Amino acid sequence: MSQSEFLLSRRQLLTGVAATAALSSMAAYAQTTKGTLILPNSADKSADKLASDEAFWREVATHYDLTQGIVNLEHGYWGKMAKPVLEAYQHANKMVNSQNSFYARKDFPQDMRHAMSRVAQALGVQDGEIVLTRNATEAIHNLIRQYQGLQPGDAVLLADSDYPSFKTAMLWLEQDQGVKSIELTTPSLADQQQLLQCYLDAFDQHPNIKLMLLTHVSNQHGLIFPVKDIVNEANKRGIDVICDCAQSWGLIDYTLPDLQVDWAGFNLHKWIGSPVGVGALYMKKGSLEKIAPYPGESDPDHNRAYSRVHTATANFSAFMTVPAALDFHQAIGGKNKEARLRYLRDLWFSEAQNMPHIEVLGGNDKMSSTGMSSFRLAGKTSLDDVNKLQQTLENDFGLFTVVRKGLHSGACIRITPQVFTSADEIQKLIESLKKLA
Ligand SMILES: Cc1ncc(COP(=O)(O)O)c(C=O)c1O
Repeated sequence: MSQSEFLLSRRQLLTGVAATAALSSMAAYAQTTKGTLILPNSADKSADKLASDEAFWREVATHYDLTQGIVNLEHGYWGKMAKPVLEAYQHANKMVNSQNSFYARKDFPQDMRHAMSRVAQALGVQDGEIVLTRNATEAIHNLIRQYQGLQPGDAVLLADSDYPSFKTAMLWLEQDQGVKSIELTTPSLADQQQLLQCYLDAFDQHPNIKLMLLTHVSNQHGLIFPVKDIVNEANKRGIDVICDCAQSWGLIDYTLPDLQVDWAGFNLHKWIGSPVGVGALYMKKGSLEKIAPYPGESDPDHNRAYSRVHTATANFSAFMTVPAALDFHQAIGGKNKEARLRYLRDLWFSEAQNMPHIEVLGGNDKMSSTGMSSFRLAGKTSLDDVNKLQQTLENDFGLFTVVRKGLHSGACIRITPQVFTSADEIQKLIESLKKLA
């Protein structure tokens, strides 16, 4: 089997589209393409070996439309759809637009249930524990706003490495609930033990913490936090945890039981490669009592996770495309994707670590690092300094990156490759970093 056979071929896909043009449901579309996704011919290679196989990843890259005119190293914002996913999305859009309410009122609920079930399955949890939302923010904001366990005088914990809008929501609890918020300073270059210790110290110093926000992979520098260990320690102390998995699922390969969290928010439009506009809320069975239903909704038996969100009319086609996105993601393989992205990161990170004029930020060992990491010029931590650096990279070196702020140690440039990024493009970054001296 050649490597190119492992993904849905364009010809097969187009045949499928033509054959189903007259059908009104996404299920019928999926039926025609079923079985055409053939697993990667990578059984003889470990994910770590495959990570440096440029020919394999060049083949993967042919399934994407690539950014023109610049080397794009900012793929942490949202993930591009692969061509078969885009085509499934276009098919869904066309069908929804022609069938209108006839589809939305009759077949859509079934397609939505199927999409949720696929997400639950991929995350290793039960149907009914996952509700699809429009993004991770909708899921996490609802968890924070609807949390019922606080009393005046309690404390809530957040960290400088958390996502800005979620920090704001945690801080808002001060005025809404009369609690005190504590913002932790996390190390910018760290391993699992250092990160755990940082939280243990906070728990010891503030015994009145009742609720904490915990980010699985930080948006600033791709650092992986040891969620399971922190959650275990938090639970021993009666602290509830809301986990932000927006940047982790698909960037690294895991299922929810690995994290041992009760509540989490995700999106699929970053690393799972769905259309923009798909997020997910996870609520473990038996954990619903402390999160109130969405205002006006009711759930007397505390068993309806879906009553915690009210998304109303949203992008039908984006939700309908979730199974196609998961198919493509799984065809590449979550482990293969994680290893490739980390390999690309290690290429530049290991060189940059030895450049005296560069400070690197992110994981200091394999367990703590992802494909995403950051850097800045040594000692140049202000937003102004880092904005200028972003401009230099873009205008003088043809590299598109993004500035991240919010860490107490200062601002940084985030570097995020994707599965279609080549080692040559990373080499271009390395050469540019050398010239910044
Ligand atoms: C760590 C983290 N949390 C949350 C979000 C928000 O995700 P969404 O835009 O899907 O709401 C992001 C987006 O960049 C993120 O990186």
